[in-house]
Amino acid sequence: MDTTLTENAAAPGAAAAAADAPRGPDGGASLYRARRERVLAALRAQGGGVALVPTAPEVMRNRDADYPYRHDSYFYYLTGFTEPEALLVLDANAGENEPAEILFCRAKNVERETWEGLRFGPDGAREAFGFDAAFPIDDIDTQMPRLIANRPALHYALAASEQFDAQVRGWIDAVRAQGRSGVTAPAAAYDVLPLLDEMRLVKDTHELDTMRRAAEISALAHVRAMQTCRPGMREYEIEAELLYTFRKHGAQAPAYGSIVAAGANACVLHYPAGNAVAREGDLILIDAACELNGYASDITRTFPASGRFTSAQRELYDIVLAAQQAAVDATRAGVNFEAPHEAAVRVLAQGLLDTGILDRQRYASVDEVIADRAYARFYMHRTGHWLGMDVHDVGDYRERGTPDTSGDTPPWRTLRAGMTLTIEPGLYIRAAEDVPERYWDIGIRIEDDAIVTETGCELITRGVPVNADEIEALMQNAQRGA
Ligand code: GLY
Ligand code: MN
Ligand code: MN
Repeated sequence: MDTTLTENAAAPGAAAAAADAPRGPDGGASLYRARRERVLAALRAQGGGVALVPTAPEVMRNRDADYPYRHDSYFYYLTGFTEPEALLVLDANAGENEPAEILFCRAKNVERETWEGLRFGPDGAREAFGFDAAFPIDDIDTQMPRLIANRPALHYALAASEQFDAQVRGWIDAVRAQGRSGVTAPAAAYDVLPLLDEMRLVKDTHELDTMRRAAEISALAHVRAMQTCRPGMREYEIEAELLYTFRKHGAQAPAYGSIVAAGANACVLHYPAGNAVAREGDLILIDAACELNGYASDITRTFPASGRFTSAQRELYDIVLAAQQAAVDATRAGVNFEAPHEAAVRVLAQGLLDTGILDRQRYASVDEVIADRAYARFYMHRTGHWLGMDVHDVGDYRERGTPDTSGDTPPWRTLRAGMTLTIEPGLYIRAAEDVPERYWDIGIRIEDDAIVTETGCELITRGVPVNADEIEALMQNAQRGA
């Protein structure tokens, strides 16, 4: 924010900053240090080198106004540090008395802190976050050539940022320029992200606890949306109830753009909350959830604006719910990532035949519907995705490193305890002559977040009802003021 906009204000930032003194990392410094040590051990096993993990840049929204700042997820995973303009350096070849875990961050600056709030500064960050050393970010071009000199390799997100690639090139050039004094520059560069993705894919206890809290807050928001919804409300009014609840309970932001779709809008998969009025007889599909302390949740519920499903809506709702239950039943350690999707598709395909949405003369069996992918006209997305710091979280969906001499696609990933994913089947029935009219313009998705366990999965978003009778009871109690 440009200081000229508010330069006559009596330093309001100073008071706010004093009240909001920076704290150390969520969960404690040792959590992040242990992750950094895992990275260092993996790099040593690969022959050493230096890993570079920058945080996200600040982005201008429009003149003098930035987008709300969100740190980079990889950087946060290894540091717990949320200030912009920061870089983590991990030196796997550091000697016994040399720093291996190094942070670059913004220097203390009393004037800027008056406007923007307190900064840790290198000394404060080193102490609070448990780094071996920390330097001002403004010194990066003098420090980095020294830190990467005589190291065999660099490990960073190759070709992910033109600006960062150019910075790295500048540091390597600066080392090469010292070649006559016997200094060598890194001779190889590797992508560090596959290593970090594998680490992030299986969540630790702190992550799971944070995700459970995020899920609880999001469930409360969906409950409030159901309780406050009345025919005649606009989509954005319902969105306001969600956003209010997220912040009221301490979540920092929505984890993704909220979808609040009334009536036929629910058949548009990425429809954002708009101006449409939810009318008596409409369903409302809400796909919205919060981010808490860097971790996402992701919930979809579909409910009737009036508090009572029509018979056609209820038929389809129960099919989607049964598909979700089949997917839940298929989610446990040891099965492959595709199993829940296959289970859901089978139930949806049967439902499409039972309702006559798919022509029973044309498709004699569920197997034929599946073989022909005839369901895909009404169910065009997959049943889940990894969930974590990013709503569509990192991690391979297929087994990496499987010897692939046949040229075939590698097999689907085997689920392990501690992986977290969504389970979100749906049906989207647009008006069409070959579809029974009673189902026209009905869009339904039901989405919950699951932690894979050895024997099944833990659904962490069931603070909001999913059963149609329970949704109706919740809404009707609220309408009666009960
Ligand atoms: N809300 C994004 C998704 O469900 O994938
Ligand atoms: Mn999702
Ligand atoms: Mn979603």
